Amino acid sequence: MNIQWYPGHMTKAKRMMQENIKLVDVIIELIDARVPISSRNPDMDKIANNKPRIVVFNKIDLADRNKTEEFIKWYENRGISVVLVNSKNGKGINQVINKAYELCKEKIERNKKRGLINKPIRAMVAGIPNVGKSTFINKLVGKASAKTGNRPGVTKGKQWIKLKKDMELLDTPGILWPKFEDQQVGINLALIGSIKDEILNIEELALILIEYLRNNYLERLLTRYKLSDTDNLESIQILENIAKNRNLIKAGNELDLNKAAIILMDEFRNGILGKITLETVGL
Ligand code: G4P
Repeated sequence: MNIQWYPGHMTKAKRMMQENIKLVDVIIELIDARVPISSRNPDMDKIANNKPRIVVFNKIDLADRNKTEEFIKWYENRGISVVLVNSKNGKGINQVINKAYELCKEKIERNKKRGLINKPIRAMVAGIPNVGKSTFINKLVGKASAKTGNRPGVTKGKQWIKLKKDMELLDTPGILWPKFEDQQVGINLALIGSIKDEILNIEELALILIEYLRNNYLERLLTRYKLSDTDNLESIQILENIAKNRNLIKAGNELDLNKAAIILMDEFRNGILGKITLETVGL
């Protein structure tokens, strides 16, 4: 499965970010805790232009805790400290604010000396589509002022949002990068819903997920879909069994594999299959 998705509005958004970076004191870079490597935009290094960055593992509630611990170490070994966040319930958000102030300490001191007291620090919130930027900002602001949407690829204009705590946020549209050098990255991003579903073959994607689950989270797969075992079965046969057990039949009395694929993908993406991380440190 070859996935590439870099529509024109992402090129524009990247330009907008580069143009505005000089106004920004700190970058809050949201990544998806279920794919802590694949969801990090390699272009951010260029965009950031050496501004301080906070890496936020968002959707921490959906990720496998043990694997998360390994990834925290992985990042820390590279000198990057991370903050774990659940934007839905707001856990970890205060830590992000504190970290932002900490990274801007010198600037705040400088401002004070120049008589600029309470001059807001400015943060840019960046991340791939669907990573949870709007939800994160809404939680931070305390009300639904940033627009949220469950579809990746919705263009949003430049938006500065004022917070009470002497901070201003620049919301940016979700962007990817022109080419996934490693196809597994594209697949991981498709699995978590950061690639527009319309350009994907959902059945093929579900078969990839089944392979991953049988190798890494077999019990969850068996229990959720009441499967007796997966031994000696091709992943397509497992998808057929899911359709059978869920009674997904279409016209002509055929199994509705498309519907089974959609259900499996939805249940994974929404955490109904449990906390699952798709990557492993060192692989
Ligand atoms: P974006 O601006 O980066 O594109 O993302 P957005 O905030 O629109 O969030 C995309 C989806 O991810 C939303 O789900 C949102 O609720 C969910 N989400 C964001 N942060 C978290 C988190 O920390 N944990 C969990 N579990 N989910 C998170 P949705 O199904 O599209 O919308 P809704 O049903 O929640 O309204």
